[in-house]
Amino acid sequence: MTKVLVATEKPFAKAAVDQIEAVVKEAGFDFALLEKYADKAELLEAVKDASALIVRSDKVTSEVIEAAKELKIVVRAGAGYDNLDLEACTANNVVAMNTPGQNSNAVAELAFGMMIAMARNAYNGTAGTELKGKKIGIHAYGNVGLYVAKIAQGIGMDVYAFDPFVDDAKIKADGVTPVASVEELYSTCQYVSLHIPATPTTKESINFDLLSKMPKGGVLVNTARKEVIHEAEMIKLMMEREDFCYISDIAPDNKEDFAPFGGRFFFTPKKMGAQTAEANINAGVAAANQIADFIKNGNETFKVNK
Ligand code: 3PG
Repeated sequence: MTKVLVATEKPFAKAAVDQIEAVVKEAGFDFALLEKYADKAELLEAVKDASALIVRSDKVTSEVIEAAKELKIVVRAGAGYDNLDLEACTANNVVAMNTPGQNSNAVAELAFGMMIAMARNAYNGTAGTELKGKKIGIHAYGNVGLYVAKIAQGIGMDVYAFDPFVDDAKIKADGVTPVASVEELYSTCQYVSLHIPATPTTKESINFDLLSKMPKGGVLVNTARKEVIHEAEMIKLMMEREDFCYISDIAPDNKEDFAPFGGRFFFTPKKMGAQTAEANINAGVAAANQIADFIKNGNETFKVNK
């Protein structure tokens, strides 16, 4: 028996679950679903006999991997895989994958939804500002960054990007201006949209020094990970600069500390960037197909562990 378990504390749209189930069954596997689980014990029980696992931001720790004695593959239906213990996967001969690009448009659209709401003072009736003509810096020019650039260009923003892993020529070909350093990006752009992954190197890397370089009316838009922000230094900056705004797709750890900043911050209550039917279908179905292709044909494209 090959059991494919979808374990999502934050469920996919029903249409996505139905399509994932269809792909799994078409491949001749058993389908199991664990949604909105309240504690880790439920996940540990459900993974016991699973050969494959599909998750979202669910934490796949070494405890989960070790409880899943039959597990061959875990796919994070999404881009960032900081929730997977890759060393535990490798140590237990489990292939770990992500589904890059599948939910990127949804994340980019949310970034603009939040930016426009902030620029229009949360629609409180007072005169706001427009995004057109403003400079936006894209910090990491991957799949989401590319969509952010396209939407920004449609709105009429001047688009800049910093990404040491992407050739300047590729960035220029998209009509985007590459900059030479992260400091240059932040000092040039009133808006900065963050798309770096959460790694030991990037953790708390968005700090006071960097943010204080942003021009008057600076707005940081974080649809990446809260862990990359140095939260205490962000609060210090917002205390010193009454013009600065912070928008984040998921609240910081100590969100109550932001209360004094009134309308200068906005946090989604739950990570919402990828929470559209389309993104759920794209990422979930890609995950199911990757599992079928790995189990049947040994295809390891999108493997992220060693
Ligand atoms: C991702 O890394 O793909 C996004 O952060 C989406 O996360 P989610 O699947 O938990 O919504």
